[in-house]
Amino acid sequence: MNDQLKVELQSAYAYLGMAAYCETISLGGFATWLRRQAEEEYDHAMRFYNFVNDRQGEVELSALEAPATKYKSPLAVFEKAFEQEQSVTAAIDKLYELVNDEKDFASQAWLDWFVTEQVEEEKTVALIVDKLKMIGDRGEALFILDKELGSRSETES
Ligand SMILES: [Fe+2]
Ligand SMILES: [Fe+2]
Repeated sequence: MNDQLKVELQSAYAYLGMAAYCETISLGGFATWLRRQAEEEYDHAMRFYNFVNDRQGEVELSALEAPATKYKSPLAVFEKAFEQEQSVTAAIDKLYELVNDEKDFASQAWLDWFVTEQVEEEKTVALIVDKLKMIGDRGEALFILDKELGSRSETES
């Protein structure tokens, strides 16, 4: 659980790095979306933090790696994000398998939310990858997508 807490924090940090890159190329809408995503990953981390405490465990916090803040293009950002979500899914699946082997049914039931959430996460990011491929180097289309992503609200996941 502590390992997954770190995975979620590392993921938040990576999204923040992606947001920082998008700021440098004046894609403020992309940056807003990625910052929201970073906040969401932080919320995921805090779910683990709370769960460890709720189960009378001890939270352990370890060092994070510095995230990339330089990318080749917005497409490269979202391809990386997709790869990252796939590896988070693999980590959740591994944890799920472990609690199942341990017959820790409370943790298993609690992890169900994450199993479902990862389907949504991969789907959302894959959709943006597809849109960016469709756009290619058409600036007007990128401008429209930037506006669309920038409208992501606080409550939207
Ligand atoms: Fe997450
Ligand atoms: Fe995620």
